Amino acid sequence: MDTMNRCVALLFLAVVLLGALLIAQDKDRRAATPAAQVAASPFMVAAANPLATEAGRAVLADGGTAADAAVAVQAMLNLVEPQSSGIGGGAFLLYWDASERRLITLDGREKAPMAADETYWLGPDGEPVSWWDAVVGGRSVGVPGTLKLLETLHGRYGSQPWADLLRPAIDTADAGFEISPRLAESIAAAQERQLDRFETARAYFFNPDGTPKAAGTVLKNPAFANTLRLIAEQGSAPFYEGEIAADIVSAVRTDINPGILTLEDLAAYEVVEREPVCMPYRAFEVCGMGPPTSGGLTVGQILGMLATVDMSALGPSAEAWHLYIEAAKLAYADRALYMADSDYVAMPTKGLIDAGYLAERAALIDPDAAMDTAEAGSPPWDEAALWAPDTQVERPGTSHFVIVDSHGDMLSMTTTIETGFGSRVMTRGFLLNNELTDFARAPGADGQPVANRVEGGKRPRSSMSPTIVFKDGEPVLLVGSPGGSRIINYVANALVAMLDWGMDPQAAVAMGHVVNRNGATDLEEGTEAADLAEALRALGHEVNLRPLESGLHAIQILDDGTLTGGADPRREGVVLGR
Ligand code: GLY
Repeated sequence: MDTMNRCVALLFLAVVLLGALLIAQDKDRRAATPAAQVAASPFMVAAANPLATEAGRAVLADGGTAADAAVAVQAMLNLVEPQSSGIGGGAFLLYWDASERRLITLDGREKAPMAADETYWLGPDGEPVSWWDAVVGGRSVGVPGTLKLLETLHGRYGSQPWADLLRPAIDTADAGFEISPRLAESIAAAQERQLDRFETARAYFFNPDGTPKAAGTVLKNPAFANTLRLIAEQGSAPFYEGEIAADIVSAVRTDINPGILTLEDLAAYEVVEREPVCMPYRAFEVCGMGPPTSGGLTVGQILGMLATVDMSALGPSAEAWHLYIEAAKLAYADRALYMADSDYVAMPTKGLIDAGYLAERAALIDPDAAMDTAEAGSPPWDEAALWAPDTQVERPGTSHFVIVDSHGDMLSMTTTIETGFGSRVMTRGFLLNNELTDFARAPGADGQPVANRVEGGKRPRSSMSPTIVFKDGEPVLLVGSPGGSRIINYVANALVAMLDWGMDPQAAVAMGHVVNRNGATDLEEGTEAADLAEALRALGHEVNLRPLESGLHAIQILDDGTLTGGADPRREGVVLGR
């Protein structure tokens, strides 16, 4: 890099980090207040923590690929945003391979232990155990996939040495980092949710007197540094078949709610390359991840129904949001009935996003009146299998990042340990997921099985919706979010804002949310979305105002190649690039 470029990059970094700090400290801000729009070329990264974004930026500035940067970003997120994602969890990835002009999707979702069956979440009385009783302890831990996904990605698209990409996280874990305001809030909140019941998590996140560690406390994690050093030297082998595997298996055998995951389960774990799910929308093609996540299909269904109306002409009005809400109800009804791990259950994957079917579903929407709740439809399908709906609601954890490199490769990755702090079980400096609670806890209803019931080796249904949008065959937009089962709405809101209403990524991710999961409508309090309440109630909607904690990150690729990014002002993320 020449001196001029270096100065510009440093100035840019300083401005963005200062902005992030101010945003993080201003807890009372309206969520809709946009941070500065960031523009750059030829590379950009947006992630949920400034240290993670900077780790990715440094790799990209050194000529690394998006795959290289993803390894550095994820390793750093694991350290500095440990409550949301890491090698103890799972992830879905969309990767645009510019030289082959191919969109790849990789499934690094956690898997149930082979010995699990549909009675997994039933208590001694035969009834499903309560949500928090299921979350806390080793029983909720699925076989993690994130590390193998990163290794697979790097093996295919990486250009820099694997060990070098883990170095920033190793150094930061050794030297320590300051607990961010958001992490401090999360630790304090999780004390109510039994985080301090587990000795390793207690020692790491709490002071000796039992109080939660405060923002600004320097946290060192030598155990995680050593874990990453081993992985830097030997790849994922020690994690899936060696000494880390042994520690994971031993850690899930907790006193409270012990798990049944075995060494064989870890050794058998595979990342799966799957077909992307793509939907035409206006002049665009919106591509997402297929099953076992419901994300790509449900976002696709919402857009497919909205494609029948001119959302651009309506603008972000109550009329437009009414149509959006009704489409979301219909899509979530199909999601509950049909969507699960299609390696285990027959699914009408193509039928669910069939244009004719979605036009029929859209015709059920009354422009002047809200439906109560939607019933699932009958998408075109050869199978006659019938399921009972799954009413499981995932709680928000998770993180999302987007990266464009200077070679034209780019990626959109959503990564999770499920709820904040996952199962609370920690080993070797990282938390283990509670992803098995994304399965239905009740295996059936009304004499029918639930598609998303637990089965040995199955992947739990997700809502994660990493998305890449194409126009004329070229990628033009990357987006995704955390937020449990609301993820689908957060991503669909942002897509409508950018594709129909012409908002730039920062305005779109900061826009107040309108969420419906086939029940009452949630409007984000303190934002322009809350102003819709009266008009929506007049149309018959049940409306609640509440905080809606998305973590959207987006990058748009403009016609001249300029990249513009957006980082969700509700979290601590930043956009960096050059
Ligand atoms: N655990 C969040 C999701 O997979 O959607």
